[in-house]
Amino acid sequence: MTLSAPDITHSPLATSLRTHPCGSLRLTHVGETVRLGGWVHRSRDLGGLVFLDLRDRAGVVQLAFGPDWSDAATLAAAAAVGVESVILVEGTVVARAEAQCNADMPTGEIDVQVTSLRVVGPANTPAFPVAPAKGDKLPAEELRLRHRYLDLRRGELQRNLVLRHHLMQATRRFLDARGFLELETPILTKPTPEGARDYLVPSRVHPGEFYALPQSPQIYKQLFMCAGYDRYFQIARCFRDEDLRADRQPEFTQIDIEASFISRDDILAIAESLVRDLWSVGGIEAPAEFPRMQYAEAMERYGCDRPDLRYGLELHDVTAVFGASELSFVKAAIERGERVRGLRVPGGAVMSRKQTDELEQLAKGAGASGLIVLKRTAEGLDGKVAKFLPDGAAEALGLAVGELGLYVAGPDRIASPALDRVRQAVAQRLDLVPADGHEFVVVTDFPMFDRDPDTGALAAVHHPFTAPHPDDLALLDTAPERARALAYDVVYNGLELGGGSIRISDPALQARIFGLLGIDEATAQARFGFLLEALRSGAPPHGGIAFGLDRIAMLLAGAGSLRDVIAFPKTTAARALFEGAPSPVPPDDLRELSLRVASRSGGDA
Ligand code: AMO
Repeated sequence: MTLSAPDITHSPLATSLRTHPCGSLRLTHVGETVRLGGWVHRSRDLGGLVFLDLRDRAGVVQLAFGPDWSDAATLAAAAAVGVESVILVEGTVVARAEAQCNADMPTGEIDVQVTSLRVVGPANTPAFPVAPAKGDKLPAEELRLRHRYLDLRRGELQRNLVLRHHLMQATRRFLDARGFLELETPILTKPTPEGARDYLVPSRVHPGEFYALPQSPQIYKQLFMCAGYDRYFQIARCFRDEDLRADRQPEFTQIDIEASFISRDDILAIAESLVRDLWSVGGIEAPAEFPRMQYAEAMERYGCDRPDLRYGLELHDVTAVFGASELSFVKAAIERGERVRGLRVPGGAVMSRKQTDELEQLAKGAGASGLIVLKRTAEGLDGKVAKFLPDGAAEALGLAVGELGLYVAGPDRIASPALDRVRQAVAQRLDLVPADGHEFVVVTDFPMFDRDPDTGALAAVHHPFTAPHPDDLALLDTAPERARALAYDVVYNGLELGGGSIRISDPALQARIFGLLGIDEATAQARFGFLLEALRSGAPPHGGIAFGLDRIAMLLAGAGSLRDVIAFPKTTAARALFEGAPSPVPPDDLRELSLRVASRSGGDA
């Protein structure tokens, strides 16, 4: 990632205590007397000459202390000061001799010869080095999270958070220029249905009653549309009590957008253009148009609704050929009306038995009964069950010598996610993912509902305010699970950046959707009455989208985890290690909230 030059190279940061930020000094400053403040990054005592690297947000500069320009007390203080202490210095900028120049440092052509030094913030020995020696590994993340104030001093995290700032400012400029108003919505609110558990906050003044923290500002942004604000955005904090992964945090930030009198294509045009703008902040030119793919096609070709298009490995239906299979589980699956699908892996025949067994475990982990592995080598076809496969199994995928075929039999509900996992794992193992690939895709026409295979109950795939596709209204009565929604996701390299939909603006249709979701009238009124009333009071057609800001920052920073782009993140066990949250509260506080803790499970730090 190439970030635009720091915007703080000099005057804006000048104060009565310092004339320049450390990282701003160049040959042009030679001869000037400067006052600097910062953290001692590294220190070298050459006996008689002391060098301190002084660091601030703008970078690092080398301070030189020597008997010809520093008095004895200053020299002694420089030799004694500990790393990470904060000092104020005054001195003269001098050019380094050519042999001493350091091309790796923007300030590498100059030194500051220090005439006075004041240690204003002495530091204890840090829990880990902020400036590790070259080649040293980072200390364990847990230690860094416990001492986040130190970790945040590292150049990498500073660059990530500066990038995040630039992304937020670019978002504001972009949306402001297009008539979007930045409007705030409450944090203490009612549950919002985004599919996760709510964080609840007890009310002291109303014993036994709770606020919920918003999973998203979804309902409020629709209310803004009903109130005539036309275009809204918010860089909104959202809270979801869900199982955490590297790309999820319990508390995260959305770029939340809603607009009135708008079609799906209008909102997607704005969304794509915003993404292009944000990618340019990250130094990446995104394509002028993002390809569109319907959900059904994505599931058929890639087994997943957020396909990584940086590599091929597409899925193919080979049921017709496998009809003649001798394998009983394949036969039984086909008799049940299920399918056999597979993918062809160029160069895959080099995979060892152990590696293909691992792929099989992945498929089984996703619920598949197994993974059929077939290699075509110069000697012929090879694989555990190769001799039981029907003629034409290899040809159905077009397997050439050196290629591998992987097949799963079963219902799409299970086979698709299994094949998706296998596809992604193969791409990683065989290094088929181009490091500099930037593949966007907008997935559209998601289904309205998911049917629980056990209970038969319908659940909203997006959220219950999503409008059905106008061509599928009749299906709501006959086969609602086949009805498509006007919902869309923006996907980048196999990750969901954001999702949204056109909303239901007709209160009768909204009531019908609630009915299909098993939300009876009284419950709908209790949970979403305020939205229903607004819809009955003159609602414009409207729709929107929300992007995960943390995910975007993570991707553009090239970071491996959301924790590297969030100043004070939670661990995967949903703990804030530095602040020590969550934590028990004194019994008196509980009593005041009319709460009692029934039991407490063991620690999970
Ligand atoms: P959705 O639930 O798809 O949609 O969320 C939108 C985007 O928010 C990000 N995201 C997360 N990021 C980090 N940690 C999490 N736990 C997390 N959960 C979601 C993702 C996701 O694409 N109200 C709708 C939007 C709308 O319809 O306009 C909503 O919240 O990047």
